[in-house]
Amino acid sequence: MVNVLVHFSFCVFQIFLLFNVANGKIHHQKFVVKSSSYTRLCSTKEILTVNGRFPGPTLKARRGDKIIITVYNKANYNITFHWHGVRQVRNSWSDGPEYITQCPIQPGNKYTYKVEFTTEEGTMWWHAHSGWARATVHGPIFVYPKRGSRYPFSKPHAEVPIILGEWWKKDVMEIPGNANITGGEPILSDAYTINGQPGHLYPCSKSGTFEMSVKHGKTYLLRIISAVMDEELFFGIANNKLTLVGKDGYYTKQIETSYIMITPGQSMDVLLQANQPPSLYFMAARAYSSATGAGFDQTTTTAIVKYSGSHRDHPQFPHYKFPHLPPYNRTQASTDFTKHFRSLATKEHPTNVPLHVNTNLFFAISVNLLNCSGKPCSGPFGKRFSASVNNVSFVAPSIDILRAYYYKIPGVFEKDFPRKPPKGFNYTGDRLPDNLFTPSYGTKVVVLEYNASVELVLQGTNVLASDNHPVHLHGYSFYVVGWGFGNFNPKKDPLSYNLVDPPEESTVGVPKNGWVAIRFRADNPGVWVMHCHIERHQTWGMTTVFLVKNGVDLKSKILPPPHDLPTC
Ligand code: C2O
Ligand code: CU
Repeated sequence: MVNVLVHFSFCVFQIFLLFNVANGKIHHQKFVVKSSSYTRLCSTKEILTVNGRFPGPTLKARRGDKIIITVYNKANYNITFHWHGVRQVRNSWSDGPEYITQCPIQPGNKYTYKVEFTTEEGTMWWHAHSGWARATVHGPIFVYPKRGSRYPFSKPHAEVPIILGEWWKKDVMEIPGNANITGGEPILSDAYTINGQPGHLYPCSKSGTFEMSVKHGKTYLLRIISAVMDEELFFGIANNKLTLVGKDGYYTKQIETSYIMITPGQSMDVLLQANQPPSLYFMAARAYSSATGAGFDQTTTTAIVKYSGSHRDHPQFPHYKFPHLPPYNRTQASTDFTKHFRSLATKEHPTNVPLHVNTNLFFAISVNLLNCSGKPCSGPFGKRFSASVNNVSFVAPSIDILRAYYYKIPGVFEKDFPRKPPKGFNYTGDRLPDNLFTPSYGTKVVVLEYNASVELVLQGTNVLASDNHPVHLHGYSFYVVGWGFGNFNPKKDPLSYNLVDPPEESTVGVPKNGWVAIRFRADNPGVWVMHCHIERHQTWGMTTVFLVKNGVDLKSKILPPPHDLPTC
């Protein structure tokens, strides 16, 4: 019985059947990176794709499986691939961030990645980790329960990927370079997309609008991924309630909601109960943009949920229902949703939050400004944008940090990343002195002992403008034990930590003018980057790197490098 009730107009997804993936199985996949021509918003352009597809192919496996992906770079750009949310135990070599764990795969070359699923289960994704290539080079990863185990919710009738993206009419590969010349903000996008389609509110986009068909009375698992580059989004479906059941590849306690807020990098498993009268209902997403003064794409992307029994004669849908989404800058609406996140904390899905901490880190994250030499830049006050963690703006080296560490090549990075801000200040104060605007530069790593029990407080700042920063850590999942607005208070705030069922995540939104505290055990040796997943902040240097030392026994050491590791 192959009852494919979910149909995709402009279908780009392969629907693999579950029985194609066995337990502990090894899957092989070929990714050919090439330039393909796509038409959106009335104009055609060349974009980078995998296997000619946008969004790219879906990887499917069960927990405990391994996928081996050989990437052939047939494009004119360097490329690398990252498996976002997969811990890649002891295997930084397959993690992907360019100049951090590998040299890029140059045009004409290939490289084989090994992606092993250990504790992850649910929805994750893959994307390019080189320049701004990920705008079009990305796709879903679905990890199903092991054979013989089940979802911690009743089995959905069907699953539907919902990939949120962002589209520029201009060539995205040129955006960071151009922004670097002016020192100002990278150009704003022209559209957001759902499964590669902007939707009916944009010019020339009515007929392509993504449509999912549902049957009244059935439940659907929406696997929502934000592959958006620069904005957090509110997302909802008219008249239909959503139930969050998972995030970043870990299950959550169920949260019923009328909208979600999803940041770049996050993925959410959401149940949709089709219990409304048969009709067409819009799903829609638009920006949650909290930074005062920052420009953002104010457009709205849409797609259609079509109940069977309803019909549409013309692709003009003026009278169908539209979801109520919070106003663009409503931080309260964002935290009203995120504050409910809890892990399952059951026998099948236990939490392992470190109760005793031996390594305390405190990172203040800021958007900064630099003086321009010669003629004024187009950032605020004629300066150029920059960004930092503990006042260090990350500079990528010319060979990767992992190689330099493994082969003991000197002069590539330093081990003295500050474990707390060099000078404390009133991080979230209204008026901050100008001297805080200017960061220092460096390629510095944080060295962690193997198995250290780490608490990291991420403190947002009001330097220049405060914003919600989605901070993503490679190589780990972590528990979000606390959060709040204002400055973190080391005496008071830990008293209200949730050490019972904190959510397990790999991309956490640090609230505007607020903080989050995360905990993890440093049990994955290697080199792991942490950065803001808002692309322009990352481009400006809101990045740092953890170097987790080897343990004593063989099982706690980094794997040897593969033979085909690209060279710079
Ligand atoms: Cu989703 Cu470092 O990335
Ligand atoms: Cu950011």
